[in-house]
Amino acid sequence: MPLPVLEAFHGLQPDPLPRGPPGVGQPAALRVSHGPGLPERTGHRQANGSDITQSSSVVGAVGSHHADPRAGWFEYGVTMEAEHRRKGYASEAVVMLLRFMFDERRFHKCGARVFADNEASLAFQRRLGFVEEGRLRDQVFSAGQYLDVVMMGMLADEFAQLHSPSE
Ligand SMILES: CC(C)(COP(=O)(O)OP(=O)(O)OC[C@H]1O[C@@H](n2cnc3c(N)ncnc32)[C@H](O)[C@@H]1OP(=O)(O)O)[C@@H](O)C(=O)NCCC(=O)NCCS
Repeated sequence: MPLPVLEAFHGLQPDPLPRGPPGVGQPAALRVSHGPGLPERTGHRQANGSDITQSSSVVGAVGSHHADPRAGWFEYGVTMEAEHRRKGYASEAVVMLLRFMFDERRFHKCGARVFADNEASLAFQRRLGFVEEGRLRDQVFSAGQYLDVVMMGMLADEFAQLHSPSE
């Protein structure tokens, strides 16, 4: 991770606002800026998530939904505007978030919940190194049908093996 990003992250503090179930805290998040040429990234604390920007315009968001620091896990979500997908921005932002949470916040595990029909997200998670850990059957009702939710997960040491610090 570039030094300015690391320095910015060191200035982040855990969000004091309770979110999610009792005992579950919300970790800090980051803001990522992409200018032309070499990406410029700056740490920026937000209440619940972070923005991915390109040339000062927001193109997506990434952040943790909730976390259990005692057990050492957190869950995250990411979304990109359609016109900015398949450019590697989501991967770069998620890797940055995971590196911060694993290496600086000492979390042990990251989880992601994906609708079973969301092929793009399933492919995206697998590409990052997440593995399917389970499936919540008929967990949501949408557009007249029940959908399964796929539980994806990655451990800190699995992340370290797959993603070098220079990535
Ligand atoms: C999932 C999502 C965040 C991926 O964002 P992205 O910026 O396109 O991701 P990246 O460019 O970093 O893609 C990295 C890799 O993921 C995989 N991938 C991403 N989108 C894919 C798709 N539509 N189909 C197949 N593989 C895909 C590919 O392996 C891709 O690498 P490649 O482009 O070299 O082939 C984006 O599709 C999105 O915002 N979807 C809507 C919101 C959503 O579903 N969020 C996740 C909820 S759990």
